[in-house]
Amino acid sequence: METVVSGIRPTGNLHLGNYFGAVKGFLQMQNEYNCLFFIADWHSLTTHPHPENIRNSVRTILSEYLACGIDPEKATIYVQSDVPEVVELYLYLNMNAGIGELMRTASFKDKARQQLHIDRVHTSEGDVEREIFNEGNKHSVSAGLLTYPTLMAADIIIHKAVKVPVGKDQEQNMEMARRFARRFNMTYGVDFFPEPASFYYSHKAVKVPGLDGSGKMGKSEGNAIYLIDDEKTIKKKVMKAVTDAGPTEPNSVKPEPIANLFTMMEIVSSKDTYDYFNEKYNNCEIRYGDMKKQLAEDINNFCAPIRERILDIRSNEEFMAKVVRQGAEKARESAAKTLNEVRQIIGFRPY
Ligand code: TYM
Repeated sequence: METVVSGIRPTGNLHLGNYFGAVKGFLQMQNEYNCLFFIADWHSLTTHPHPENIRNSVRTILSEYLACGIDPEKATIYVQSDVPEVVELYLYLNMNAGIGELMRTASFKDKARQQLHIDRVHTSEGDVEREIFNEGNKHSVSAGLLTYPTLMAADIIIHKAVKVPVGKDQEQNMEMARRFARRFNMTYGVDFFPEPASFYYSHKAVKVPGLDGSGKMGKSEGNAIYLIDDEKTIKKKVMKAVTDAGPTEPNSVKPEPIANLFTMMEIVSSKDTYDYFNEKYNNCEIRYGDMKKQLAEDINNFCAPIRERILDIRSNEEFMAKVVRQGAEKARESAAKTLNEVRQIIGFRPY
């Protein structure tokens, strides 16, 4: 059976972007593949180096994974830091990864900008690179951030996964994972690691937009609608969505904020609802207030059962502890098997 791996960083509650970008794919795949879904707590240290309560953050994602329907009987659910074998593979991959290629990834540049407090608008790529090497800089960018893609590659290939359900924003990291797998094979003249492919549950990569005008929904973007949000909060967030005065010409192209509203509706509402408002738009009869009300209702209908289950699961500490204990055992077994072979390929003694 083919293996599938994916993870989410414990940096807050799961939002609709995480759900429709990743978790929905997890749910589909757990019935057909050997699935391992983990909580990427090491990765969270790249942007949250001093987590206030990492155990609690991990518990949050775990309860939300389970509430969404990830089934520990079907998939292995584990915490990244419970599987130290990953770190050893990360080290080997780093030995053959170039600083240049790591520095060129878009997510590194974005996060480096944030860590260095450099304004995106006024800085060229060259300036970011100069600042990173500027030893006098009182802020510095961590090597962990730079090597984020090698750790992610290690997460995936340690289980020899062939498919990885992720959102569109992970495309470049996935490209790097394939590159590092290929490079390992070439370096040691073996055909050992498969090159993992991104998996999208729909026909194309999903990018859940924010409703604040542009870009994607994200925790750090401050525009997320969380699965745990209550009805009132959801309504408030949706009603605040950026709109305009409405089209004046029939069938006009939607400006980005409006297109985002429609994309969100396409994701959570029924096709009939989407078609209804789309037609209204095309006939210049759209009333955004009505559309937002409907969207808020549909989001709430989607989140309500998950919300209830989250609260239920969080009250069952014993169950959650058992899930990650058993998950860690299974994940370590799979990881140790690969690592033993890797050690032999490189020329180290197997464990
Ligand atoms: P993270 O925690 O940022 O996001 C987790 C997953 O949610 C998806 N996602 C989105 N998809 C569509 N639209 C959005 N607005 C949106 N926001 C988030 C992300 O694409 C992702 O699939 N690098 C990973 C964590 C990771 C990982 C891995 C994933 C570490 N190791 C190995 C897969 C395999 C990340 O930053 O996730």
